[in-house]
Amino acid sequence: MRMKNKYRKPTTLRCNAGTRCSFPVMVWSLVGCLLMLHLYSLVCRKHGVGGEIQMRKDHHHPLFHELEEVEEEDIRIPPPKGKRSPRAAKRRPKRPTTLIEEFLDESSQLRHVFFPDEKTAIHPMKDATNESFYYYPGRIWLDTDGNPIQAHGGGILYDEKSRKYYWYGEFKDGPTYHAHKKAAARVDIIGVGCYSSKDLWTWKHEGIVLVAEETDETHDLHKSNVLERPKVIYNEKTGKYVMWMHVDDANYTKASVGIAVSDSPTGPFDYLYSKRPHGFDSRDMTIFKDDDGVAYLIYSSEDNSELHVGPLNPDYLDVTRVMRTILVGQHREAPAVFKYQGTYYMITSGCTGWAPNEALAHASESILGPWETMGNPCIGGNKVFRQTTFFAQSTFVLPLPGLPGSFIFMADRWNPADLRDSRYVWLPLTVGGAADRPLDYNFGFPLWSRVSIYWHKRWRLPYTWKEKNQ
Ligand code: DGJ
Repeated sequence: MRMKNKYRKPTTLRCNAGTRCSFPVMVWSLVGCLLMLHLYSLVCRKHGVGGEIQMRKDHHHPLFHELEEVEEEDIRIPPPKGKRSPRAAKRRPKRPTTLIEEFLDESSQLRHVFFPDEKTAIHPMKDATNESFYYYPGRIWLDTDGNPIQAHGGGILYDEKSRKYYWYGEFKDGPTYHAHKKAAARVDIIGVGCYSSKDLWTWKHEGIVLVAEETDETHDLHKSNVLERPKVIYNEKTGKYVMWMHVDDANYTKASVGIAVSDSPTGPFDYLYSKRPHGFDSRDMTIFKDDDGVAYLIYSSEDNSELHVGPLNPDYLDVTRVMRTILVGQHREAPAVFKYQGTYYMITSGCTGWAPNEALAHASESILGPWETMGNPCIGGNKVFRQTTFFAQSTFVLPLPGLPGSFIFMADRWNPADLRDSRYVWLPLTVGGAADRPLDYNFGFPLWSRVSIYWHKRWRLPYTWKEKNQ
């Protein structure tokens, strides 16, 4: 005899007064809705929603007044008959045809667009009136002594003790040359520059906190080698400031990380040693300190074909044995990691030397992966701007305390003809809205929030942020 199970849910549901929907009808309606949604997302993508400039206006976002002003750029390539220097004509018989070629051409008539001259420099000690606190991506940025800031491939540490920001980066104030015919443009190592600030706009030079080795040719930091992308974090347990960096020889075959340590954010940092982390080659890298105090090393490896991520020891002076491979086969470098509402995000670049290329945003629930690629985060400018990360390459993403979901995206506009004159491209980055690229495991439905980096010729942080944070 069949017993009636009083706990079993009925297979028909009451949809609205009087009508009854059967279970299969419900299922098929749901499938239909999902298909419609999927079709809609495909159409949107085809018609450029998300791919093209799409202002997702979030009226509650603290940076809203900035986002409203996202700018378009209309840069015209000079006419073919434009006279170019005989030197350039000799070197390159055909005139450059793309904006990227123009960018890389030392004698381009558009040079001033990408590398505006010193007349337009940001001078915090002079511009202390109307122009105060405005960022002008790509312009020369002077420190409080009136010298161009030298902190390329850098990152920022907020120091709770001094309540100051410290910006560390490659001090490249030397001549650019090629070690041999096929070698990339380079500047001899001078060291790691350090600048301090309370407002993220006025930067005081604190000196070169890790200096190159002048005489000992066997030293990792001998001036003929390579020191790139230094990043500093503070270790609460040891009370030390720990710096990780990419160290290499001029041919980029050493492919190692270097570690230095100091008692003070302004150095001097003592260089400890270099190594190939987990036994692998390591080129572009960054470190990320999580909310629980565990820090991680993230580096491009296997000839830049993939990234590796692994936790550091509690003293932050070495890696542990744990390591995961991520973004395998994607050929990404210049990683910049940040976290928002429990999700990890990362911006990376492609691998094209000093030439700019398209940024990608990635997201993961765990820093150890799996990481998913979400697409190009750049919004505004114009198509070429977006395809070249605004002619720059990611280096760091700085969370803005007191403005949840708001970050500063820090990038380098490398100038391969004169690396010391490379520029900084700082832009507002926000997390919110749906991602615009179908992900691997989600049947086309966005799992993550979109990461957006907005182009502005001129922008500033909200005044309220400055007041609260000084
Ligand atoms: C791209 C890297 O991101 C930079 O840090 C630097 O290593 C250049 N390549 C050298 O060509």
